[in-house]
Amino acid sequence: MLKNKFAIITGAAGGIGVVAAKRFAKEGAFVIGLDVNAAACEKAGAEIEAAGGKCLYLQCDISSEVSVDEAFAKIREVTDRIDVVYNNASVFLGGKDGPLGDVSSEVWHKVLGINLTGTYLVTHRALPMMKANGGSVILTASSAGVSGIPACAAYTATKGAMVSLTRSMAVDYGKYNIRTNCIAPAAILTDMVKESNLNDPNFNEQKFLEMVTPLRRWGTPEDIAAIACFLASDEGSYVNGTILRADGGITVNGDVNR
Ligand SMILES: NC(=O)c1ccc[n+]([C@@H]2O[C@H](COP(=O)([O-])OP(=O)(O)OC[C@H]3O[C@@H](n4cnc5c(N)ncnc54)[C@H](O)[C@@H]3O)[C@@H](O)[C@H]2O)c1
Repeated sequence: MLKNKFAIITGAAGGIGVVAAKRFAKEGAFVIGLDVNAAACEKAGAEIEAAGGKCLYLQCDISSEVSVDEAFAKIREVTDRIDVVYNNASVFLGGKDGPLGDVSSEVWHKVLGINLTGTYLVTHRALPMMKANGGSVILTASSAGVSGIPACAAYTATKGAMVSLTRSMAVDYGKYNIRTNCIAPAAILTDMVKESNLNDPNFNEQKFLEMVTPLRRWGTPEDIAAIACFLASDEGSYVNGTILRADGGITVNGDVNR
């Protein structure tokens, strides 16, 4: 499905990203994994290679222009063509983010720096390597990008931005056969869910699954990796500008009492 495609994945050493990286490699992609966590990069890269996959894992802080440029210098030693950019990395600073009036400027800039500017930097550097052959750009929003989620204004602002940026990129880059789409997940069981929900003493998991989540289960990183794989592949060749909710129906659940 992704044979011979060079695919950059950000946040590729943890959570959804590492599962997607393994799936992409299994489907034949050469995975270029960028993640701020050096030890996790080493582990993920070794696991993919041990399973017969091809990859290049680079420790990279996507919010830093210097770090991203260093990573791209190394990427260009391997390929001058990029087929897929899966912008997956983000932070949710639970306990620090909040209603807008309570968010410190330090937290605001940190969240925007990683979630929004990081997406800009990686995609900006990759686009010149995509224009000649076309490809697929995937952005990652959240339920916070399509409905109002309380007490995480900085995170929510960045996720709304992913939705808008998907649409503007879809119309700007379609002429290069570069498709841009967005996955809007919710309730995927990763460290981020611990930070956003499970660690909150007011969070009631049973109620959440029974009343808020129509499918009555947590989502898995594999659920999201499968969607990313489809959007990255030629199977999705006429899909451009889509915001794909992958949340088990949470954001369309009109009556949470049933
Ligand atoms: N888990 C969910 O329920 C959920 C819900 C909505 C949206 N999302 C979105 O899905 C994406 C993946 O989420 P996840 O649950 O796997 O998160 P996660 O926290 O489990 O993993 C995030 C990964 O990004 C990396 N990362 C963090 N800061 C980075 C930086 N500055 N530079 C490079 N890498 C960095 C981390 O090291 C980690 O490997 C995010 O964009 C998130 O907003 C997840």
